[in-house]
Amino acid sequence: MLFTLITGASMGIGEAFAREFARRGHNLVLVARSGDRLQALAEEFQRHRGVEVLVCVEDLVDAESPARIYAFCRRQSADVDMLVNCAGLSRAGDFDDMPLEKLEEIMMVNMLAMARLTRLFLPDMIARRGGSIINVASLGALQGVPGLGLYSATKAFILTLSEALYAELKGKGIKVVALCPGFINTGFFERASHNRANLRLPMSETGVVVEAAIKGLKNNRLRVFPTLIDRVLVFSQRVVSRKIVIWLAGFLAAVDDR
Ligand SMILES: NC(=O)c1ccc[n+]([C@@H]2O[C@H](COP(=O)([O-])OP(=O)(O)OC[C@H]3O[C@@H](n4cnc5c(N)ncnc54)[C@H](OP(=O)(O)O)[C@@H]3O)[C@@H](O)[C@H]2O)c1
Repeated sequence: MLFTLITGASMGIGEAFAREFARRGHNLVLVARSGDRLQALAEEFQRHRGVEVLVCVEDLVDAESPARIYAFCRRQSADVDMLVNCAGLSRAGDFDDMPLEKLEEIMMVNMLAMARLTRLFLPDMIARRGGSIINVASLGALQGVPGLGLYSATKAFILTLSEALYAELKGKGIKVVALCPGFINTGFFERASHNRANLRLPMSETGVVVEAAIKGLKNNRLRVFPTLIDRVLVFSQRVVSRKIVIWLAGFLAAVDDR
């Protein structure tokens, strides 16, 4: 049976993906650390949407977790034909203040887990000649963001890898989308100690992001910028200097009111 696997499905954007795909009748594999939240979502979707939902509680900081997730899906005979790499985290502040264990955590979850999961599930998709991968990057992937240096670098990794995969997989029936949202209304900022009251751009709701991603996938887009403001900012990068691009990114994110 075919399944959509979503990491970071317990809350925020990942939960919104799970809700929308359940509504569309997808069977789901939900991955995150918060087992209770995943279980509650699974029961809700099974009861109200009639889809099959598997809960896989894993901490993606653990380098072996992607292999366990893949083995779990094999044991459950869940053929993953859509992979949504959504789990991610940030930490606001200058790089020289970043606790080393936080640095590891951000890089493990945002980059290594995403790359390993993609590498593990891709061969089966290629063998079936069909599949989709939604990688949740960020507008921050397009330049270094002062105050969010490591986070923006991990998102650039996701964007770059997605671009190469898009081209590599084109003739193999696999679609790849790099989703690049601006500021989205979730608990992400509190968890990153980033004062959202300082942000100098309006926040969008998770539904806008999910809808844009699904539309982008349908239209075989490579990079998806969900809102008009996102697209204006991307366009502005063509006409101003790189130093201004970087300054503007830091100004808009306004970590510590910089
Ligand atoms: N919010 C924004 O403004 C924004 C903008 C651009 C891009 N994004 C990206 O969108 C994605 C989702 O962000 P969000 O706003 O929905 O944030 P969120 O509400 O904080 O959700 C993050 C998700 O990642 C999971 N996660 C974090 N660490 C994990 C770990 N070690 N192991 C397994 N799962 C882990 C969390 O689940 P558990 O805590 O249950 O493990 C949660 O489900 C992230 O990749 C983020 O970088 C967000």
